Amino acid sequence: MGGDFRHFSSQVSLFFLLLLFVPFFAVQSNSSFSPADNYLIDCGSSRETKLPDGRNFKSDQQSVSFLQTEEEIKTSVDSIPISDSNSLPLYLSARIFAGKSTYSFYISRPGRHWIRLHFYPLPHPLYNLTDSVFSVTTDTTVLLHDFSARDSSSIVFKEYLIYASEKLSLYFKPHKGSVAFINAVEIVSVPDELIPDSAASVPQAPDFKGLSSFSLQISHRLNIGGGLISPKIDHLSRFWASDKPYNSFPEGSRNVTVDPKTITYPEGGATTLIAPHPVYATAAEMADAQTSEPNFNLSWRMSVDSGHDYFIRLHFCDIVSKSLNELVFNVFINKLSAISGLDLSAKTTALGTAYYTDFVLNASAITNGSILVQVGPTPNLQSGKPNAILNGLEIMKLHNAAESLDGLFGVDGKYKGPSGGMSSKKLAIAGIGFVMGLTAFFGVVVLLVRWQRRPKDWQKQNSFSSWLLPLHASHSSYISSKSGSTSRRMSIFGSRKSKSNGFSSFFSNQGLGRYFAFTELQIATQNFDEKSVIGVGGFGKVYIGEIDGGTQVAIKRGNQSSEQGINEFQTEIQMLSKLRHRHLVSLIGFCDENQEMILVYEYMSNGPLRDHLYGSKENDPNPIPTLSWKQRLEICIGSARGLHYLHTGAAQGIIHRDVKTTNILLDENLLAKVSDFGLSKDAPMEQGHVSTAVKGSFGYLDPEYFRRQQLTDKSDVYSFGVVLFEVLCARPVINPQLPREQVNLAEYAMNLHRKGNLEKIIDPKIVGTISKGSLRKFVEAAEKCLAEYGVDRPGMGDVLWNLEYALQLQEASAQVDLSEDKTTMNIQLEFSGEEMQILPRPLP
Ligand SMILES: *[C@@H]1O[C@H](CO)[C@@H](O)[C@H](O)[C@H]1NC(C)=O
Ligand SMILES: *[C@@H]1O[C@H](CO)[C@@H](O)[C@H](O)[C@H]1NC(C)=O
Ligand SMILES: *[C@@H]1O[C@H](CO)[C@@H](O)[C@H](O)[C@H]1NC(C)=O
Ligand SMILES: *[C@@H]1O[C@H](CO)[C@@H](O)[C@H](O)[C@H]1NC(C)=O
Ligand SMILES: *[C@@H]1O[C@H](CO)[C@@H](O)[C@H](O)[C@H]1NC(C)=O
Ligand SMILES: *[C@@H]1O[C@H](CO)[C@@H](O)[C@H](O)[C@H]1NC(C)=O
Repeated sequence: MGGDFRHFSSQVSLFFLLLLFVPFFAVQSNSSFSPADNYLIDCGSSRETKLPDGRNFKSDQQSVSFLQTEEEIKTSVDSIPISDSNSLPLYLSARIFAGKSTYSFYISRPGRHWIRLHFYPLPHPLYNLTDSVFSVTTDTTVLLHDFSARDSSSIVFKEYLIYASEKLSLYFKPHKGSVAFINAVEIVSVPDELIPDSAASVPQAPDFKGLSSFSLQISHRLNIGGGLISPKIDHLSRFWASDKPYNSFPEGSRNVTVDPKTITYPEGGATTLIAPHPVYATAAEMADAQTSEPNFNLSWRMSVDSGHDYFIRLHFCDIVSKSLNELVFNVFINKLSAISGLDLSAKTTALGTAYYTDFVLNASAITNGSILVQVGPTPNLQSGKPNAILNGLEIMKLHNAAESLDGLFGVDGKYKGPSGGMSSKKLAIAGIGFVMGLTAFFGVVVLLVRWQRRPKDWQKQNSFSSWLLPLHASHSSYISSKSGSTSRRMSIFGSRKSKSNGFSSFFSNQGLGRYFAFTELQIATQNFDEKSVIGVGGFGKVYIGEIDGGTQVAIKRGNQSSEQGINEFQTEIQMLSKLRHRHLVSLIGFCDENQEMILVYEYMSNGPLRDHLYGSKENDPNPIPTLSWKQRLEICIGSARGLHYLHTGAAQGIIHRDVKTTNILLDENLLAKVSDFGLSKDAPMEQGHVSTAVKGSFGYLDPEYFRRQQLTDKSDVYSFGVVLFEVLCARPVINPQLPREQVNLAEYAMNLHRKGNLEKIIDPKIVGTISKGSLRKFVEAAEKCLAEYGVDRPGMGDVLWNLEYALQLQEASAQVDLSEDKTTMNIQLEFSGEEMQILPRPLP
């Protein structure tokens, strides 16, 4: 009898359903959306690419205006061993970036946009893309940080929802020594209604508001209980994956599928833009729903990154019930109640009708690196059979406090993680360190006088990263043509093995610049003639030489008995090969034949900065002309730029460790370049410091580094502060012949400054030419650099800003002297923000 009744009721409801459906079919058409902005780019391709789904991807050659890159490096193949048939054509070509490069898109309609990035590491004769490491950012959001395609044997597809107005730029930034690449880019407008501004919070709390201001990355988009949905079917060209790999209790679930035509979209609710018919036409339900009383949940577990809130959208459509109000169930996210007693009939007032609901899962609820979505029957249900369903699931990552979707570094490359500052625990350790540091003080002094052999683990800490790639051909003036350079480099490495010593095979694999034969350098220096010597250091002698019929180079020949020898030789090659910057001395190549350790650098004809300040030889018939204050400022700014790049730029996280005026070299135009990376260290940014034996130069050494023996980039900032005073006062940083309180320049200058007497020791040759404002700003910068504790010292970016400002003030005052009326419009300096600004320069 009960059976008959059920039969009857289901027939009735079916009848009503049909009644409901018919008018809907008549009025309901698929929503269409034509995106205002629709950039589809097949990168590195020479022609347009048409996908099976009908979309046309333009070549970035056809419209290069939006691509800014230093050199054209492209690669393409005829086929690749993967089976993704729809987007496969996009992966047959790629563009490679040896330096920071940008795609910029004009945005006609402000709003959210898809950013879809396609990666597949294609072969290239010079660059191993599998090994490449790079970052991708927009102006506001980090999309990928230190990304590598190494761990995925197949294509990598990344999809984001980013707000953009006027202009959207994608910055590709290779990691030091590496390259970046991209196969295809999509920038497409998104309908405003796709992502709301608020959503229910899990764990339960007031609604999460302000979603509009978040950048999102799509983590998972699943068509539950069904197969893949291709971008061709989806109205927004989305891809929906099968839920199979995520279903953590497949035995308990059963697929349900209905004809997509029977799905309706309610007015004022879900639309085909929210999800297309096939998503709602398939579902998973409880496998034994119709038998005994089921007592379990359907569960899907997706792995996600911790430290981010997640936007979660669940799609439901009751395609399992025979009548309304049969289906009531609970929804859990990470075992927390998301909806209790969801009655789909109450939400949609009809069966087979699309419904979706949004949540934001708080990062604190993600303890297991995964999101677990569960649906399960409501106990003690009065009507219907216990069952639960899910049709579709979308999981999107929200950007974190660093405005990043990948890690804790901001778009400026700076670490923005929670342990950025110094915790009280660290301070306590610092206190203990101070006591220990005092005890070790005398030992340290000995260390300073003569540097000790490096710790054994130096090699390991500093080991070559496997992603290190050849020098960027574009910067290498010594390499004539790109195609030529490849074969040349390879043949050099191929032919020299027999003679060279231990590192050669090591270096040859890395392609670290040009390899010089020993005879080549003998010729360049007239057999290392003493007359060619331009400098002598702990490492050995530095010669001037001529290569390639006239190019002057500096040749540093290692002293084989030197204790510092081999390790510093290696470190220097490692460091310099990774670094390319206008304000860093470039390494051209090296020679390691016959047990020799020889480095070849660009020649800096004006030598070390110190010589220009006070260091020139006595009775020199051609004394070095005095540097003006403006020249000194420009030199300081240049060196600060170089150091800033080391700390935070593409080369992020390198500590120089030996900043001093002899390591700042000047080229023929007095352009400053930082040199001598023999002591440099990669700073592991996660820890923020490196523990190491104290090294550096007396007079420049950070007192905190003394005490704690922990190296941070703020130690370089300290040394740079000393350099600033040295530049201002033109005297050695340590002069033991002076009265005791004057021996140490940094201490003495700070003392005088506190008493307002600094003028006393300013270089008498220029003291009258420095503008008051410029001096004040300069000294302020130097003073901050010399703060007792690293945390109180500014970053090099701030120092740079202050120096730029000091230069502006100097130039402005010079203008006042020349003509009063010109200055009014030119001295508009900007003070906004703490970040470095490019200041308007006074007109010449
Ligand atoms: C809407 O689109 C889907 C998939 O593209 C298709 O299956 C369905 O028949 C369309 N419905 C209508 C009413 O056009
Ligand atoms: C590129 O690097 C990967 C990973 O290190 C390695 O497996 C592969 O053999 C390299 N390819 C070439 C052509 O060197
Ligand atoms: C459900 O359908 C998908 C796609 O057709 C399939 O991969 C999966 O094995 C099915 N699951 C069950 C439990 O039958
Ligand atoms: C379903 O999952 C929730 C949260 O994990 C749990 O509290 C509940 O007991 C489960 N229900 C059943 C029937 O196992
Ligand atoms: C997430 O949870 C933490 C800790 O429970 C809380 O401080 C924070 O405000 C929550 N975030 C949001 C966006 O609700
Ligand atoms: C953590 O994840 C594993 C599977 O990845 C799962 O078996 C385990 O139950 C999870 N633990 C918690 C507390 O959620």
